[in-house]
Amino acid sequence: MEQTFVMVKPDGVQRGLVGEVVSRLEKRGYRLVGIKMLQLTREMAEAHYAEHRGKSFYNGLVDFICAGPVVAMVWEGKGVIAGVRQLMGATDPAQAAAGTIRADLAVEMGRNVVHGADSPASARREIALYFRPEELVSYRRAGEEWLYE
Ligand code: RTP
Ligand code: MG
Repeated sequence: MEQTFVMVKPDGVQRGLVGEVVSRLEKRGYRLVGIKMLQLTREMAEAHYAEHRGKSFYNGLVDFICAGPVVAMVWEGKGVIAGVRQLMGATDPAQAAAGTIRADLAVEMGRNVVHGADSPASARREIALYFRPEELVSYRRAGEEWLYE
């Protein structure tokens, strides 16, 4: 089944929102298959946000993502890549739809609590950046017949 990479950023960890983010994804029905807490090195942060290298906000973004521990996760489910992006809301919390994580829990773009891979290629690349294959588990959640037709 489709997998995506999700991260609770340093602001989310410091603000005590790890459980809230996990809970929203769990409640939708997605399956958590890998999770770890870590402090990013500058090298890891630069690899993570390589697509933004050279942009005006890049240095600030790398500083921010290294400013405290993060929680890295892999989630699985039907359409989970787009589904998580939908639950996260727009990049700028001020523009995010009400009910999304960023609209409900954040105010500014540079403190938007959560990261989610934006395509199948990004998901594969980011999962490989943070997890070895043996760190991901394979299982079914009880009651998935009540989630999927
Ligand atoms: P993310 O990668 O963190 O999930 O966020 P995203 O896809 O919604 O947005 P993206 O375009 O990938 O940007 C990554 C992060 O960089 C910061 N940003 N600042 N000042 C700006 O114009 C600007 N644009 C992006 C945001 O913190 C965003 O989450
Ligand atoms: Mg992005």
